[in-house]
Amino acid sequence: MSKNNNKFYITTPIYYVNASPHIGHTYTTIAADILARYHRMIGDKTFFLTGTDEHGAKIEEMAVAAGKEPQVFTDEVAASFQLAWDELNISNDNFLRTTDSGHKKAVQKVLQYLYDKDDIYLGKHEGLYCRGCEQYLNEKDLVNGLCPDHKKAPEIMSEESYMFRLSKYKDVILEKIKSDEFKILPIERKNEMVSFYEKEGLNDISFSRKNVKWGIPLSWDASHTTYVWADAFLNYLTGLNWDGAVDRIPEMWPADAHLMSKDILRIHATIWPAMLLSLGLPLPKTLFVHGYFLIDGQKMSKSLGNVIAPGDLVKKYGVDATHYLLASATTFGKDGDVGWGKFDEKYNADLANGLGNLVARTVTMTGKLRDNGGELAEASSIIDLKNKLKKYNNLFFDLSIDAALFEIWDIVRSCDKYISDNTPWKLIGIDNKRAGEILYACLESLRIIAWLAWPFMPYTAEKIWDSLGLNSAEELEKDFFKEIKWGGLKTDAQVKKGDSLFPRLEK
Ligand code: MSP
Repeated sequence: MSKNNNKFYITTPIYYVNASPHIGHTYTTIAADILARYHRMIGDKTFFLTGTDEHGAKIEEMAVAAGKEPQVFTDEVAASFQLAWDELNISNDNFLRTTDSGHKKAVQKVLQYLYDKDDIYLGKHEGLYCRGCEQYLNEKDLVNGLCPDHKKAPEIMSEESYMFRLSKYKDVILEKIKSDEFKILPIERKNEMVSFYEKEGLNDISFSRKNVKWGIPLSWDASHTTYVWADAFLNYLTGLNWDGAVDRIPEMWPADAHLMSKDILRIHATIWPAMLLSLGLPLPKTLFVHGYFLIDGQKMSKSLGNVIAPGDLVKKYGVDATHYLLASATTFGKDGDVGWGKFDEKYNADLANGLGNLVARTVTMTGKLRDNGGELAEASSIIDLKNKLKKYNNLFFDLSIDAALFEIWDIVRSCDKYISDNTPWKLIGIDNKRAGEILYACLESLRIIAWLAWPFMPYTAEKIWDSLGLNSAEELEKDFFKEIKWGGLKTDAQVKKGDSLFPRLEK
């Protein structure tokens, strides 16, 4: 892969370890993986961070319910996330756990810094607290007295607490959101935040807990632990090996994109930038808010008990197909209903009968052509490659991953149509030259499809190159912007049949 001077730092939220991952978490993680792989492919210096959020009242409660020490409990659940991401071939550069000692020390250092500059002060906090969200809720956010996400009534809490001067940063953050210096995408989410700031403003917020033992103690008052979100946000910096010193910022900071769904947008667009401003550090460039995976119209979530585990998808469809099915499940940024029926249908249509079948029949016909004394022959492009690449790259820069995927499948469909229109199988042995040209055009399109599909489905891309007699490592060494041109395949390429890419599902 080529190298350039651009950098790309992408993160997922760090997931709570109250239960193993489901395909909602997997969706964010796969999306981040796709974006990270794309940026590596085009030669950017890339860092992809994910991890687990392990402190706080909710986890403490779950550990007690499981009859385990919190550390033992969190070790087990964090391991289930790591295992899931390994099984899914996720290319994260680090996996940050908030119980790591380096992270904990940095959090203490940062809070001490904020306390010393008087952005944290001792006060009292009263309000309605939802443990599911680990947040205070406003009365008017409740639906029939319940948290809309967790469907539980919040507890009334009143406690002595160290407060963070969130209100002080309202105007600066709002300005940065409006000007897109601190960009929130899609646009409707930006508008939602602007209106939140304009209508409700920001109040100072409780940054410590006296009644939660499972947390990072404040360095100046160990009778309080750190509010779990203050602890969690700092992962985005400690995951880059930051030790909490404001004069030593990691070179990959600021993040180019923090991915998340809308459940945690508001807190990311308020407390996190305020903490960074207080520390004198640059804000992340973009918060990208994708939609929810819904099951029968309800958000898929552990607390609602309607989840699908990523391992079940991998078992049924394989790793790359799971990436495809999740990445294409809905428009990136919009909610979408998911379910086994839809996954099955899409697997068969797009993968088994689509890309898989295109590779299999093109390779088989090439074998027949050669058995009949024919050879591949150079042919002009059957796709408008320049435009296609432009579109594909622009979609990636807008983080429109499902649309980029659609562009690739548009080439698959063009090849299918080209084959049906030109019937190369009828020409073999009759007009070998023409058959050789038609098949060359399809194989060369497949070589390019493999490139474009690599960020989404790396194993599949490599298998396609292998079928075309190409060495994946050599292909990936190429400069994406300069060397992805029509005509790279040699006419004497050692085209060979591999295992079926996407075996049809048994009824
Ligand atoms: N620990 C906090 C995040 C701290 S980041 C500094 C947290 N954890 S979580 O386990 O609840 O994860 C929430 C995130 O998981 C969502 O923002 C989203 O990325 C992903 N998803 C969880 N359920 C989802 C759906 N049903 N659909 C899509 N994404 C979902 O919040």
